[in-house]
Amino acid sequence: MLRSASASPVRTAVYFYSSASGMVRSFAQRLGREVFDLSEREVRRSVPAGPWVLLTPSYKTGNVDNDTIPEPVRRFLSSPLARRRLVGVMGSGNRNFGEHYQAACRQIARTSGRPVLFEFELQGTSWDVEEARRILDDLDLALTAEHARLASGASGGVRGSR
Ligand SMILES: Cc1cc2nc3c(=O)[nH]c(=O)nc-3n(C[C@H](O)[C@H](O)[C@H](O)COP(=O)(O)O)c2cc1C
Repeated sequence: MLRSASASPVRTAVYFYSSASGMVRSFAQRLGREVFDLSEREVRRSVPAGPWVLLTPSYKTGNVDNDTIPEPVRRFLSSPLARRRLVGVMGSGNRNFGEHYQAACRQIARTSGRPVLFEFELQGTSWDVEEARRILDDLDLALTAEHARLASGASGGVRGSR
């Protein structure tokens, strides 16, 4: 999508999944920006209107595939357009899970070719929240600059933002 050079600054949306223990939800709600909860069916059925960041916990469930990606996240990522607009992944995990630490976040980053933007444990510390806010703010600036470049007819830039 092309925007005029005077278009509003990009505000990257955050889509998160959180289980009943709510640690990722607590983190997401402290980010100070619009967040979308993938445990809600309407959210899962929607497609991000622009660039978005996934925030996911890892859950080693002991199923045959040893799958750690929460099912709502997997379903949301089945949309090619959502995958295309994904710009990065953040993960919540617990180091007690050893080699499986952040397995979902890392696997999604690997298969999508998008970067792991930030990792933290459980609900995150105040420092973690500040750091994630800073990373998202930097991303907004980079994407806004890319949109301005596109509007002026240049090519290249941040992947997955269109
Ligand atoms: C059953 C179970 C399995 C988990 N598996 C992993 C895992 O494989 N890797 C990891 O880094 N963290 C793992 N965790 C830790 C969670 O990802 C972490 O606590 C996260 O903050 C939970 O977020 P939520 O409360 O929003 O669901 C597991 C936690 C539980 C309860």
